[in-house]
Amino acid sequence: MNSYTILAKYYDKFTRNDCDYVRWSQYLCEVAARHGVREIVDLACGTGKMSELLLRRGYDVVGVDASSEMLNIARQKCKAAFICQDMRKLSLAHRADMAVCVNDGVNYLKPTELAPFFARAADGLKVGAPFVFDVSSPFKLTNKVGDNVFYWDDELQTLLWSNAFRGDRVEMDLVLFERRGDVYCRSDERHVQYVHEAAAVVAALAQAGFDVVEQSDSYGGKLTEQALRLAFYAIKR
Ligand SMILES: C[S@@+](CC[C@H](N)C(=O)[O-])C[C@H]1O[C@@H](n2cnc3c(N)ncnc32)[C@H](O)[C@@H]1O
Repeated sequence: MNSYTILAKYYDKFTRNDCDYVRWSQYLCEVAARHGVREIVDLACGTGKMSELLLRRGYDVVGVDASSEMLNIARQKCKAAFICQDMRKLSLAHRADMAVCVNDGVNYLKPTELAPFFARAADGLKVGAPFVFDVSSPFKLTNKVGDNVFYWDDELQTLLWSNAFRGDRVEMDLVLFERRGDVYCRSDERHVQYVHEAAAVVAALAQAGFDVVEQSDSYGGKLTEQALRLAFYAIKR
């Protein structure tokens, strides 16, 4: 199965305590305020966790994701405009004031896809518009996520998440057992997340027409060797 097919309906449940979306959204809104932003495109928006927070802060939000299953959940959550689209082929009706891509969306792109994706993002933005996104760091993918197994288990579902580190990427095999009466039904899906070094991200941004304003750990924290989430704040030239 493609990634985020079977996982979609449990994504919010399984990731409930994973990330500090409220603090991240404060960082994004501070950037937005600095640039007089009204409309934000939320790339790889998934189930709309960040879209919903930005919408509540008064922004017009367009959410883009390749998984129709994730977008179905997002549409139940809030009234942002949601588009099912591969962000590598991003095509918007008009240029937006700002783009964001939070929680690993960019890790799903191969290293060779970074600069072309950033170029599409630049195309979708007004001159001077901010683009803020993150990647799970090489440190995290190597030391925390790669070659590790995670699980979720309760009365209705069991999820096994086994990872294999392959040097430039982590292959993630998800096995979900859903209880239906007296039986458990099994579904499988695979995710591949790619390792992106900060220097490669910055080079690809420059190539695509962005200037990097700030790099931080998890939206505003001081960067260290062991940072888990590298956040980039760039501006379209
Ligand atoms: C870890 S989820 C993050 C979702 C959301 N941003 C959040 O914070 O909950 C990664 C998302 O990236 C999406 N995605 C991966 N590759 C994509 C692509 N090429 N185009 C659009 N969406 C993509 C997946 O469908 C998934 O919803």
